[in-house]
Amino acid sequence: MVSSLLLPPPHLPTSFNMSPAIECHNLKTAYSPSLQRPILNGISCQIHHGEFVALLGLNGAGKSTLLRSLVGLVPLERGNININGVQVNPRTLPQIRQDIGMLFQGGGLIRQLPAIDNVLCGKLGTRTTWQTLFGFPKHDRRQALEILEQLGLRAQAYQKTSQLSGGQQQRIAIARALIQSPQILLADEPITGLDVMACKQVMDTLSQLHSQQGITIVTVLHDLGIAAEYAQRAIVLDAGRIVYDGVCENLQAQFSGMRG
Ligand SMILES: Nc1ncnc2c1ncn2[C@@H]1O[C@H](COP(=O)(O)OP(=O)(O)OP(=O)(O)O)[C@@H](O)[C@H]1O
Ligand SMILES: [Mg+2]
Repeated sequence: MVSSLLLPPPHLPTSFNMSPAIECHNLKTAYSPSLQRPILNGISCQIHHGEFVALLGLNGAGKSTLLRSLVGLVPLERGNININGVQVNPRTLPQIRQDIGMLFQGGGLIRQLPAIDNVLCGKLGTRTTWQTLFGFPKHDRRQALEILEQLGLRAQAYQKTSQLSGGQQQRIAIARALIQSPQILLADEPITGLDVMACKQVMDTLSQLHSQQGITIVTVLHDLGIAAEYAQRAIVLDAGRIVYDGVCENLQAQFSGMRG
């Protein structure tokens, strides 16, 4: 009899292997004369499937650069990154990018488009120009509507994105990432600038994706209380290095010795 312990949990893809979802080894960017150090200065960490990690640190610590490096957007001078056991390089990047959804700092939505079209933009990487020349296929539009429904935004699907609230726009950005069916979601400051209710909606959405769909979440946050409420683990950066990696209790203490 096969022990159920040997089988991956049901939410994991069939290609699942026991490699960490994300593995960084000694990431170092080129020396930056203005900072007088590399932006990333020797980052090593492992994030396992199904974790919910808060990435914290002061402005300029390197959080966005680290997230962007995971999807091949930052030239590295040293070190390597493995996603699901596959090393990130120009040959593997197209496949790896399909497994990772990214919410960029500031949202990155096209404000003039209806919400549903922004969600469909998440499909562009997997569709040829020919396939989208006369609009997205019906099943893509159906999938976009299902995701909007799941995030409580079905009624806003055809509204111009600029007319939606900040919290709704952030959830549209999440929907755009989700239409790729990612295993990993990287979110760069998804709640910055939102009011308390919108913050809660966005964080609850991430939490549900984590608990119900098993998506591995790494999110940049500035609010230590919210990090402690939602994340299982915190990674704190300072000047391009990891200065703390552990539980979310007493995070305030990790910031006390930092340069402002
Ligand atoms: N393309 C770039 N060229 C030069 N310097 C850069 C570049 N991108 C980032 N930096 C610098 O690297 C440092 C880290 O930037 P990064 O955006 O990763 O910080 P962050 O931790 O995300 O900060 P914040 O909390 O303000 O978003 C900053 O000092 C920034 O000015
Ligand atoms: Mg940033």
